[in-house]
Amino acid sequence: MRRPRYALTEATGWQTDMDSLQAAVDSAREAGQTVRAMVVINPGNPTGQCVTRETLRRSVQFCADNNIILLADEVYQANIYQDETPFYSMLRTAHDLGPRVVDRLELISFHSASKGALGECGLRGGYLHMHGCTEVFKRELYKLFSVSLSPNVVGNIAVGLMCNPPKVPSLPSPYFLFFQLSYPPFLPPSLRPPPRAPLFSSPNPHIHM
Ligand SMILES: Cc1ncc(COP(=O)(O)O)c(C=O)c1O
Repeated sequence: MRRPRYALTEATGWQTDMDSLQAAVDSAREAGQTVRAMVVINPGNPTGQCVTRETLRRSVQFCADNNIILLADEVYQANIYQDETPFYSMLRTAHDLGPRVVDRLELISFHSASKGALGECGLRGGYLHMHGCTEVFKRELYKLFSVSLSPNVVGNIAVGLMCNPPKVPSLPSPYFLFFQLSYPPFLPPSLRPPPRAPLFSSPNPHIHM
């Protein structure tokens, strides 16, 4: 497998240089290579740095225009340590761009039970969401998953709870409360829990124990 090379721009906080990306794909195709997919890992591991909304929009537009499947690894979405560039999913970005883009896009988004702020590594469970993929493609993928070994039971339970959290009638949304307690950076400032004494004098205002 060969990968077209493109550049990131330091002056824009290491965002993707879209002209360089387009040139890389064009020259790969001119050389006879088949460019099928683009992977975007957002937020990044381990820093939790997020891609800007503008770069997200341009990435989605680029994949739709160039007939490239967009693979969005968003498993780090709960591990963000800054407010300047919030996390937006590729799917949301695509819908924000309207039907002329979202209807032409093939997007697969990934999430995992193992990357939460509470340190769930080891649960080994994840899922993907397909948008705009053909039925033939979905059937082939399902066949591929079916012939591999089953994931472990604990991982399955974790993904089940993550996607379909238990409902307690007296509480508005346990999932929301879980986020409020676990992932303050996700919430608007007015909804954040009051800061507590930081452990080990951490200078990071988002790390509360
Ligand atoms: C960006 C990113 N995607 C995917 C994975 C894999 O996640 P999992 O623990 O569910 O195998 C990792 C693991 O470190 C990661 O950092």
